Amino acid sequence: MCGIIGIVGMAPVTARLVATLKRLEYRGYDSAGVAVVLPEGIERRRSVGKIVSLEDKLQEEPLIGFTGIGHTRWATHGEASERNAHPHTAEGVAIVHNGIIENYAELKTELRSQGYEFHTETDSETVAVLISTFLKQGDDPKVAVSKALKRFTGAYALSMIFEGYTDMMIGARQGSPLVIGVGKDEMFLGSDALAIAPFTNQVIYLEEGDWCILSRTGYEIFDMNDQPAERPVQTVETEDSVADKGNYPHFMLKEIFEQPKALTRTLKAYTHPARGTVSLPKSGEEELDFSTVSSLYLISCGTAHYATRVAEYWFEQLAGIPCKTDIASEFRYRRPALAPNSAAIFVSQSGETADTLAALRYCKEQGVKTIAIVNVPTSTIAREADIVLPTLAGPEIGVASTKAFTAQLLSLLASAIHAGHTRGVITEEAFADYNKSVFSIIDLVDETLDLDRQIYSVCELIAEADDVFYLGRGVHYPLALEGALKLKEISYIHAEGFGAGELKHGPIALITDKTPIVFIAPTDELFEKSLSNLQEVAARKGPVLLLSDRKGVDLAGNVPTASLEIPACNPIVAPFVYAVVLQLIAYHTAVMRGTDVDQPRNLAKSVTVE
Ligand code: F6R
Repeated sequence: MCGIIGIVGMAPVTARLVATLKRLEYRGYDSAGVAVVLPEGIERRRSVGKIVSLEDKLQEEPLIGFTGIGHTRWATHGEASERNAHPHTAEGVAIVHNGIIENYAELKTELRSQGYEFHTETDSETVAVLISTFLKQGDDPKVAVSKALKRFTGAYALSMIFEGYTDMMIGARQGSPLVIGVGKDEMFLGSDALAIAPFTNQVIYLEEGDWCILSRTGYEIFDMNDQPAERPVQTVETEDSVADKGNYPHFMLKEIFEQPKALTRTLKAYTHPARGTVSLPKSGEEELDFSTVSSLYLISCGTAHYATRVAEYWFEQLAGIPCKTDIASEFRYRRPALAPNSAAIFVSQSGETADTLAALRYCKEQGVKTIAIVNVPTSTIAREADIVLPTLAGPEIGVASTKAFTAQLLSLLASAIHAGHTRGVITEEAFADYNKSVFSIIDLVDETLDLDRQIYSVCELIAEADDVFYLGRGVHYPLALEGALKLKEISYIHAEGFGAGELKHGPIALITDKTPIVFIAPTDELFEKSLSNLQEVAARKGPVLLLSDRKGVDLAGNVPTASLEIPACNPIVAPFVYAVVLQLIAYHTAVMRGTDVDQPRNLAKSVTVE
């Protein structure tokens, strides 16, 4: 989603603002802009489309100021246009905003009735105009901001600069994250730690309702009641190589190939240091005790949701825990009745997804133990959950989630095996067996990545289609859903996933010789059933791309149009292998179609609005 950078600097800031906006491109955006305070007033440049058009503008009309703000906008209220791009200005102030001011319409009406004008369709402009009204009444920026913040409902991360104040920036957060970066004689504001990583590793995470005043040499933080607040300065480690594609043409491909490393790191965290068996990492003072859990809620969005749908099979089969998976945007408003002694797991790469966070807060209010599986340990979801189980995939820049997904699967599988063991559902022998399988995952993923060229060679079948169906059974049904999501989000080909057994209840009507079917059919207890479903498709001349470890599958004379021989493995770890194949299918197909793989249209990496 939108990205924010603010610098109160010792040297001209525009180049650094723009470089940061480029680093934030991964979050998804459709326009961008910067503004600086000059002794003669505030000036801004904005443009629609990629950052390079903003750079062109700055080339023609440079901006040289020591204090400035920058923003990448992902349109919510109002089309993607230069007029709607941030920063927004009103007399005396310029602001950038992430989130949604929910009461913007009534504020606009009120301010219009007082004679104030609006120049955009955005909710964000009301922030600038309202602050400006207080400045005009004679308030200084501190008082004006404090008064204005009390009028907003909804979510905001704000960075604001003021005419006549070349050594001041004010930030505020409610619902959307904002971090302060403490530099040497320079201060920063960023929508995440990654935004300010090249400038400083000393960061302060603002808490809900906090706001702050920065100067070059210091900062003050206030809580929602305007009382001075102390927040710890934390040292964050961010990988230097993060914004670097290395020798890969896209971040997505780099991240697909980083999976053995990401899984090795994650597995290490889920390995008992003395016993060398699967166990749970320690999370602060709290112990996660699955033996007393009566049922589990698994709540998340998008790809993370499909990880939980796979895990539902694991928790039920390995640990005997009744499970319910839900997409967070539905869960939060359904006001579900939660079972006594239940626990809820929230899975999120970013740890900032607005719906998942709201669902977590709902569960906490209901007294349910909350567990966060997150890739960003300093994220809001991690900070608010009772227990944190990390994934150690490293920063994921490609909008389509790949290495974070398999790391989530690993965290969930390790948790399910641990739960089964502590609940006495799996025998010692089975526990040893599962351990062996889990420790084989990294080699299996490596072996699967070696199939890259073969996978590429079958993608033409998919790239030429308008509609593609993914079929699977058991844990491979949610994987089919994930495979379809991956394909649609980066190639823009219409794709749907179905449980193969459900085919004859409707979807089979869609099968023609023009609709390729990606069929996931590893050798497992459902293989024979899958084969029957495959026959049904082949009999209707659907071109089949078969993904299986089984060789020479005979379909009563109908051979699959194409097949890939996938490494054989214990069914419990098969989702890791097939996930990689599905990611590479989506990737190569998208490249064949010439789409923007790393920043697909309309999508944002971190969905901080609902
Ligand atoms: C798809 C994708 C999204 C995210 C979803 C949740 O490739 O990345 O569907 O999985 O937006 O995001 P997080 O995991 O950050 O909560």
